[in-house]
Amino acid sequence: MLAKIEKLLQDINNISASNLEELEALRIKYLSKKGAINELMADFRNVAADQKKEVGMKLNELKSIAQDKISTLKESFETQDNGTSEIDLSRTPYPIPLGTRHPLSIVKNEIIDIFHRLGFSIADGPEVEDDWHVFSSMNFAEDHPARDMQDTFFIEAHPDIILRTHTSSVQSRVMEVSQPPIRVICPGRVYRNEAISYRAHAFFHQVEALYVDKNVSFTDLKQVLLLFAKEMFGPDTKIRLRPSYFPFTEPSAEMDISCNICGGKGCPFCKGTGWVEILGCGMVDPNVLELNGIDSKVYSGYALGMGIERITNLKYRVNDLRLFSENDTRFLKEFEAAN
Ligand code: DAH
Repeated sequence: MLAKIEKLLQDINNISASNLEELEALRIKYLSKKGAINELMADFRNVAADQKKEVGMKLNELKSIAQDKISTLKESFETQDNGTSEIDLSRTPYPIPLGTRHPLSIVKNEIIDIFHRLGFSIADGPEVEDDWHVFSSMNFAEDHPARDMQDTFFIEAHPDIILRTHTSSVQSRVMEVSQPPIRVICPGRVYRNEAISYRAHAFFHQVEALYVDKNVSFTDLKQVLLLFAKEMFGPDTKIRLRPSYFPFTEPSAEMDISCNICGGKGCPFCKGTGWVEILGCGMVDPNVLELNGIDSKVYSGYALGMGIERITNLKYRVNDLRLFSENDTRFLKEFEAAN
């Protein structure tokens, strides 16, 4: 009996078929009711009692090997393209790994979230803009250097259609269609004609905030700035405001935060000063309110604008701006945990 099993096992290990019909014939020969294996099974009752255990095991083993062999061969025929089946081009060629959120989106969402909790809602505007919304309505003088071709990408010369150089244009878009109280944040992409390097890019991202109502004061602005800095960079963060100039705010300031890398002690990142600049801000210039249809005798407001790349660099110490737009998944994967 054992010898017969051994012989069958050898036969089965060597079977081959060139088509499904041949395979079916083999299946009948070995595995059907009257097949070779079942015949052996029928003989099993004649096996001596002391051999039953060993023979039984071998028989079972033989049967499962035969079944595996036949079904593997069958599968190989079924998956073969025999010219009649259509190729399914929508099938995934290999497992696609799950993507991760882009670091700039993570930081943008965090900024939006902080301002959302303060009652700001999101406003949007076009990236291809006209001169009026980017410059004139924002109180830029006719000969202001920012209008220069060296900074601005022009799409059409007459009328001036350009790529917006800052999200302040959305301030104008909002004010021209609504009256105070206005409390909006405007995240978006902006463009400047810069040579691309590790510290400058031809496009980057900003978030603008605008608050216009009765009796809005510089104190309100400072309070919001302090709260934002603490929420974004941790409760020990300090802020300082330095006088500055922007055409659309008066007075204007730039805000520094205590360097979150050295904690204010001084390090190469903050060039030993203990402070890093993160945004521009100020009280909305009354001219800007008037140019956009808001009565500056009744209303006042504050505005602020920051670069998302800058904030991201501070939070995650990315020191080459180009990494943000290269789509290198090894870089993007590093932000998986922050999602
Ligand atoms: N638009 C300015 C820029 O692109 C940033 C800015 C500064 C926005 C001061 C503001 C502001 O709203 O009040 O550099």
